[in-house]
Amino acid sequence: MEAPNTQNASPSVAECSVKEPNVETRKVPPGGMLYGDYLQVDRLLSCQNPLSTLSTPVHDEHLFIITHQAYELWFKQIIFELDSVRYLLNTKEVGEAKMLTITSRLSRIVLILRLLVDQVTILETMTPLDFMDFRSYLSPASGFQSVQFRLIENKLGVRNEHRVNYGKNHYLKIFEDPKVIDAIMQSENEPSLCDLVQRWLERTPGLEENGFNFWNKYKKVATMILNRIKEDAEEDPDPNKRETLIEDWRKKKETFESLFDTNKHILNTYLLIRGQRRFTHKAFQGAMMISCYRDEPLFNQPYHLLKLLMDIDSLITKWRYNHVQMVQRMIGSQQLGTGGSSGYQYLRSTLSDRYKVFVDLFNLSTFLVPRNCIPPLTPAMKRRLSVMEELILSHAGMLSGDEEDKDDTSLINL
Ligand code: HEM
Repeated sequence: MEAPNTQNASPSVAECSVKEPNVETRKVPPGGMLYGDYLQVDRLLSCQNPLSTLSTPVHDEHLFIITHQAYELWFKQIIFELDSVRYLLNTKEVGEAKMLTITSRLSRIVLILRLLVDQVTILETMTPLDFMDFRSYLSPASGFQSVQFRLIENKLGVRNEHRVNYGKNHYLKIFEDPKVIDAIMQSENEPSLCDLVQRWLERTPGLEENGFNFWNKYKKVATMILNRIKEDAEEDPDPNKRETLIEDWRKKKETFESLFDTNKHILNTYLLIRGQRRFTHKAFQGAMMISCYRDEPLFNQPYHLLKLLMDIDSLITKWRYNHVQMVQRMIGSQQLGTGGSSGYQYLRSTLSDRYKVFVDLFNLSTFLVPRNCIPPLTPAMKRRLSVMEELILSHAGMLSGDEEDKDDTSLINL
């Protein structure tokens, strides 16, 4: 197994561990518990205390509180699932059973996020005038102070350098409780889901340079395709169209070159700043290989996992979008937020790809080659990808190269 690329990556497993999530234990009284006791419903239902009751009660404040509390409860569940998935991934072996647990927990996160995206509409039944009636009581409270939201972002892999500055302040500055600050800082330092997924992708069977060497084959195919595009462009009889086509080819060539050159991939600050590259070079290769051969049994679940990661990113972006729309509807685009940001303008700037943790997976499509150009699997590689058991062995580093493999990109019918 190759050493992971450390240049733009992640803390190592040894550096910081990921703990399995635990829940507080309780004593069961003799004779068992009734519904209300088990769920501590009284405690839960005693937490909705609108402040407008201090003067003129505003009906909708109750909905405002319940909605936020429901979000925080679901955030808690997301963190619980996320921690368990990080724990399961934080090993050198990710076998079939683990893989199924990981994908089913990620699917659960996806479903919860879907619910959270839709939940915004319930709060939108409140009118801006109703909100105005109790907004002054909230200040300086703001969703910006949601600790769990920041934990989710960090545990997924949102990096500090990609965050939008909040009134030129570090996002941590708003928190005062040392325990909260510690928890958030810890979430920044632990391996995120994005870090762990990269390490796992780096071990994708078939990437070995002394074996199937997928990347070498893929490079050859991509170069053949680029050459064909260039030839077609140069042969176009219309001079204007020819120029456009050649320019298009040049841009494509540059994009592919940035992918093929390891140094360019990591050091291309332009792409990093624009948030288009986050993955290590090797992890990107693994993701590309899984996408190309997703129909092979060994890659079915891994491909499903990659899709779930994109779903998570998409849904959080959708939530940000729905939230910002609601904010504009409630307070317009010129008022400051109760947390002190520029409000709508600040939130709008968080909608960009900077916050997409798995942006490399979205960008895979830029580099996909047509199905009939995908390098054919050698018989040995085909066998290797046909059994799930192999995943355990190869991800444990027990299978090295693939002796029977030879370079056969010449078989591709362009
Ligand atoms: C009437 C409804 C709402 C309004 C007007 C509103 C307004 C705002 C504003 C203006 C901000 C920017 C920070 C600031 O200066 O305060 C913000 C941030 C935030 N709000 Fe809301 N919000 C509403 C409902 C919600 C709900 C239901 C949630 C669910 C938990 C939520 C969660 C958040 C979070 C997590 C942030 C931080 C986002 C980030 O920094 O990327 N908000 N909100």
